[in-house]
Amino acid sequence: MVDFKEEIAKIIGRAVKELSEEEIKSIVEIPQDEKMGDYAFPCFRLAKTLRKAPPMIAADIAAQISENPLFEKVEQVNAYVNMFISKEEFVKDVLTEVLTEKEDFGKSEIGGGKTVIVEFSSPNIAKPFHIGHIRSTVIGNSINKIYKALGYNVIRINHLGDYGTQFGKMICAYRHWGNREDVIREPIKTLLGYYTRFHEEVEQHPELDDEAREIFARLEHGEKEEVELWQWFRDESLKEFNRVYKMLGIEFDSYAGESFYSDKMPRIVKMLEDKGLLQESKGAQIVDLQPYGMTPALIKKSDGSSLYITRDIAAAVYRKEHYDFYKNIYVVASQQNLHFQQWIKIIELLGFDWAKDNIHVPFGLVSLEDGTMSTRHGRVVFLEDVLTRAVEQTKDIIREKGVNTDNVEETARQVGIGAVIFQELSNNRIKDYVFSWDKVLDFNGETGPYVQYTYARAASVLRNAGEEAARRAEDPLAAKPEYITGESAYQLSKLIYALPQVIQDAGDKFEPSVVTRHIVDMAQAFNRFYHDEHILTDNEDEKISKLALVLAAKTAIRNGLSLLGMEAPERM
Ligand code: ARG
Repeated sequence: MVDFKEEIAKIIGRAVKELSEEEIKSIVEIPQDEKMGDYAFPCFRLAKTLRKAPPMIAADIAAQISENPLFEKVEQVNAYVNMFISKEEFVKDVLTEVLTEKEDFGKSEIGGGKTVIVEFSSPNIAKPFHIGHIRSTVIGNSINKIYKALGYNVIRINHLGDYGTQFGKMICAYRHWGNREDVIREPIKTLLGYYTRFHEEVEQHPELDDEAREIFARLEHGEKEEVELWQWFRDESLKEFNRVYKMLGIEFDSYAGESFYSDKMPRIVKMLEDKGLLQESKGAQIVDLQPYGMTPALIKKSDGSSLYITRDIAAAVYRKEHYDFYKNIYVVASQQNLHFQQWIKIIELLGFDWAKDNIHVPFGLVSLEDGTMSTRHGRVVFLEDVLTRAVEQTKDIIREKGVNTDNVEETARQVGIGAVIFQELSNNRIKDYVFSWDKVLDFNGETGPYVQYTYARAASVLRNAGEEAARRAEDPLAAKPEYITGESAYQLSKLIYALPQVIQDAGDKFEPSVVTRHIVDMAQAFNRFYHDEHILTDNEDEKISKLALVLAAKTAIRNGLSLLGMEAPERM
C-alpha cells in the first residue's frame, strides 16, 4: 500500500536536512480532527537545532512543500505543518493498489514466514458439538486467516478432548446399556445419552464410579478392548464434527488431541521432579503456585492418572520441539483463564524462555434467547442444527424477497452460514452475547446478509455495465481520478485504503471483530456512494472511473469477508 507517511517524509526531508527521513516519518502524525489535515508534522524537535520558534519553522516548511502535487493544501497552524493530501492523488493510488493486488490486497509480509500455531475449536469427543463451540471455532478460524494474510506460516491445530476419566464412564455405560447400531446411526446423541444415563445411575449405584475408573486405567495402559472402543467413539465423533467443519468451510492441519500426549507425560513429570517443582499432597502430585497468587496445579492424581493440565504442558513442549513456533495461540473460553495462567507459569518455572510465546486468547459466553445450555442434563443445542436452521430460514427469506439468484440452495448456504459467522465475529470476543435469530438474518442491520447483499450489488453494477466496460475498469490506469473525488467516493476510498492497517490491528489484538466492523463501514460507504452518484452515465471516462471504484470496493469487501471465513455471493 502507498505509505503516505513515507512519501511525506521524503518531501519534508528535502526541506529539513537536520532530521533523517526515518526520524521525520516517526514524527508525522495523523490528526484527530480532519480539519487539521490528513497528516501533520510538529516542529518542536527542530527548535533547538535551528534556534527558531517552532511556528516559524512550520511556516518555512509549509512554504517549501506546498507546491508538491501530493498535496491539495498545506497550512501552518502554530507549531504544526498540516497537510491535506490531494484527493485525486489519493484515489489514484488506492485504485492502483487494489486493482493490481486484487485478492492479495490487504495482505502483507510482516510475519516473514515465521511459524504461528493457532489452536482452536478443540471440542470433546463423544460430547455434543454445541452452539457454545461456535466461538472458538469461528474466532480461531478467523485468527488463523488473519495471521496467514500477515505473512505467517500458520499451523491449525484441533486439540481434541479425546482423553480423560470420562471415557471410562462412557465405556462403562456402553457396556451396561449400549448397543452398536445406535452409536453408528447417531453417534454423539447416543453417546451423550450414555453419559447422562451414567450420571443418573451412579446416584443409586456409586460402585459404577469405581468400575469406570478401572476402565480408564485399562485404557491408559493400552488394553486392546478399551482402546478399540475408545478409537471407535473418537472416529464416529470426528465424523460428526467434520460435517460441521465442512459446513463452515474450516480445515485443520492437525487433530493431535489430548490422547496424543498420553505417552509424552512421564517425561514432563520427570522434568518437574528434576526442577524440584513437584510436591505431594494427599497422595497426588501438585505444583504449588501460591507464590504467584494461584491455586495449586494438580499434575497427577493419587491413582496415578494424568490430568488436563499435564497434557497441556506436554503439548506445549511438543509443539515447541516439533514446530519451533514463534507464537503458540490458544483460542479458548475465558472460563479457562486460571488454567492457562497456571500452566504457562509452570512452563516458565521449568526454565523455558518461550513461556511468553504461549498466548491465551479468551472469549466470553454465548447464550440463546431461551437460556443457556447444559451438557450434563442433555439440554443442548447442536451447532449443526443452528447452521441448518440458518440455511433453511434464509431459503424462505430468499423466496419471500424474490432475491436474484439462479441457485437458491447455494445462495442460501452462503448467506445462512455467513450470517451466523458474521454475528459471531461482530462483537468484541471477550463480551458475552445472546444469539438472536432476528438479528442474525436481518438483511438491513449490520449483518452478514447486509454486507453480502452490498457485495452482490457491486457485482451487479459491474454486470450491468457490460463486459467491455467492466474489463476496462480493471485496468488500474484507466480511471480518471477527478470523477471519483466527490464526498462519498472519497470516504469510500479512505476506508478501502485503511484495510491493510485494520488487518494488522486485528492481528495484534487477536480480534476479528475489528475486521468485521470495518467491512460494515466499507459496505455502508459503498451504499452511500451508490446512492449519491450516477454510476452508469453516458460519459465514458466518468463511467469507467466510477466502475473502477466499485470494483475496488467489491475486492476489499470480498478480501475482508474471506478473513472471517465467509463467502461472497455474486448474485443475491
Ligand atoms: N476440550 C476443551 C473443552 O472443550 C478445550 C480445550 C482447550 N485447549 C487446550 N489446549 N486446553 O473445554
